[in-house]
Amino acid sequence: MTKVFKPCQVMVLIGGNGSNLQALMDYAPGANYQIAGVISHRPDVYGLIRAEQGQIPHTVVDHTRYEDRFEFEKDLIQAIDEYRPDLIVLAGFMRILSGNFTLNYYHKILNIHPALLPKYKGLKTHQRVLEAKDPNHGASVHYVTRELDSGGIIAQARLSVHPQDTAETLQNRVHCAEHWLYPKVVNWYSQKRLTYDGLTVSFDDLPLPETGKVFDMDF
Ligand code: GRF
Repeated sequence: MTKVFKPCQVMVLIGGNGSNLQALMDYAPGANYQIAGVISHRPDVYGLIRAEQGQIPHTVVDHTRYEDRFEFEKDLIQAIDEYRPDLIVLAGFMRILSGNFTLNYYHKILNIHPALLPKYKGLKTHQRVLEAKDPNHGASVHYVTRELDSGGIIAQARLSVHPQDTAETLQNRVHCAEHWLYPKVVNWYSQKRLTYDGLTVSFDDLPLPETGKVFDMDF
C-alpha cells in the first residue's frame, strides 16, 4: 500500500538561474512535496522570475547589503521561518553557511553539488575533472553540515567524461543529470524514506554506501 503523507513544505534557496528550482517545480505536482517559497541571496536573477511564473512566494535577502555573515544569516533565518518549511533545499545558493545556521536546521538542509563527492568540493569542478583526466563526473545530493560539501551523501548521478568534453559541455551534461536527480531525492525526503545520523545515510532503513545511491546516466 502506498503511504500518504502531508506534503513536505520545501523552501528553495537560490542565487542564480534557478534551473534546479524549475526541475523541482516541474516535478512537484506528482510528488509528496510543495514548494512553500523561494529565497534568493541576489536580486535580479532569473530564478526569481521562474518563482514568479510558478506563482511561488519569493523573497530576496541580498547578501551584499550585510557587513558580516551573522547579520545576513539572522535575516535569512527570519525570512525562512516565515514559511515554516519542513526542508530547506539549496539550489545554486552560493553562500557558505555557518555552523550556527546548519545547527538551526539540523539535518533539514539538502544541497546539490556538481561533482562526485567527496572529490572536488568547492568551485570549478568541471575544469578540475578535465585536468585530472577523470573518466567520470556527475552530481551529488547531500545533507548540509557545517563542513563545506561534506555532509552525508544521499545520491549521485554519474556520467562518463567524453574525449571531446569541455568544461562547458560537462557543465551542461551535469545540469541535465541534476535536474533528473534532485527532485527525486527531495521526494524521498518528503516520503520520509531518508534518515541521517550524522555518519550514515539510510534509505528505507538500509544504510547506504558513502557515495549514496549511484545512478549511471547517459546524458
Ligand atoms: C548547479 O550546478 C548546482 O550543482 C550548484 O549550483 C548550480 C545551480 O544552477 N550548486 P541553477 O541555478 O539551479 O541553474
